[in-house]
Amino acid sequence: MKIAVLPGDGIGPEIVAQAVKVLEALRGDGLKIEMEYAHLGGAGYDAAGDPFPPATEKLALAADAVLLGAVGGYQYDTLPRPMRPEQGLLRIRKGLGLFANLRPALVYPELANASSLKPELVAGLDIMILRELTGDIYFGQPRGIRTLDNGERQGFDTMLYSESEIRRVAHVGFQIAMKRGKKLCSVDKANVLDTSMLWREIVTEVAKEYPAVALSHMYVDNAAMQLVRAPKQFDVILTGNIFGDILSDEASMLTGSIGMLPSASLDAHNKGLYEPCHGSAPDIAGKDIANPLATILSVAMMMRYTFAREDIAQRIETAVRKVLQQGLRTGDIYETGMQKIGCTAMGDAVVTAL
Ligand code: IPM
Ligand code: MG
Repeated sequence: MKIAVLPGDGIGPEIVAQAVKVLEALRGDGLKIEMEYAHLGGAGYDAAGDPFPPATEKLALAADAVLLGAVGGYQYDTLPRPMRPEQGLLRIRKGLGLFANLRPALVYPELANASSLKPELVAGLDIMILRELTGDIYFGQPRGIRTLDNGERQGFDTMLYSESEIRRVAHVGFQIAMKRGKKLCSVDKANVLDTSMLWREIVTEVAKEYPAVALSHMYVDNAAMQLVRAPKQFDVILTGNIFGDILSDEASMLTGSIGMLPSASLDAHNKGLYEPCHGSAPDIAGKDIANPLATILSVAMMMRYTFAREDIAQRIETAVRKVLQQGLRTGDIYETGMQKIGCTAMGDAVVTAL
C-alpha cells in the first residue's frame, strides 16, 4: 500500500499525524504500508512557490492512495488566484482524474444531540452524497472577467458536462446504491439549465442497467429544502460539482459534527484521495484541540475503496465508535458529562481501541 501523505495547512499536519499513527499501528499488525510526504496548498507555496508542486504531483501519481489533511490559511488570501491553496486541491483532483467524490453524512448515535435539527429527524441518518468532482462550472472554459464595450466589467464562467463525464459518475452512483439502500436521487436544475437536461437524460439511460435501484430526480433547490425537512428520505444523492459542493456542506451539518466526516475522491481504477470534509481551521491550528476523527475515518474509507479491505475499514470505524462510547470528545463534539481531550490524545485513544 503506497500512500502519499499530504498534511497541508492549518490543522492539517496535526490531524494527519493522528491518522498516520493509525496506519503505523496497522503496519505493526503486518500490513505492507509505505508512506511518503509531500506539500500541498499553502505548504506547497511556502516550500516550492506552487500550491501543487511538481514533486507532489509525481509522488501522488505514483502512489496507490493519497491522504490529505486540509489546505488554506489567511496568509494566502491575498495571493493571485493561481498561487492560492485551493488551486492545489483543484489541480490534484483534476490531475489524478478523481471524478467521483464520496461524502457520507452519518449520524453517530452517541452524537445525535449535536445536530441543529431535532434528534428524531436525524437519528439513524445515513446518506451518501456522490459529487462529480472534475467537471462542471469549476473547470469549464471560457471563464474570466472581461471589459464590455461600455467599459463595464463582466465576470463569466461556463457550466459544462459531456455525456461521458455524466455516464461514468452515474455508474459509480448506481454501484454504490446497489451496496446500500438501492435508492438513488439525482439532483439537478433541469427546469432551467441545459447542462442539467442532458444530465437527467444520461442518468435515466444508465439507470436501465441497474433495474434493482429506484431512481428519482430532484431539483437542487428542492433538495436543499428536503435535506433539512426530512433528510432520512435519501440514500444516495448523485449530483454535479457545484451542487454537490453546496449540498454536501449542508448535509454535513445534519450530523452536527463536520469534524467527524471523511471523504473519498476516486478515479476510474479506485485510486483515491482521502481527506476530511472540514477545512484547515487556521484559527485553532497548532493548539492540539482539532478533531482528528474525520481524517482517521478517511483512512477507513481508503482501506474500503482503494485497498478493498472492508475488514480493516470496519476495524477502524469500530475503534472510533469505541472511543465515542468511552465518552472521549474533542471540543467540537463536547457535551457536559463527557471527557474533553485534545487531538493527540484522541489519536492515541483510537490506536488503543484499534
Ligand atoms: C470542498 C471545498 C473546495 C471545493 C474548495 C476549497 C476549492 O469547498 O472540497 O468542498 O469547492 O471543492
Ligand atoms: Mg465545499
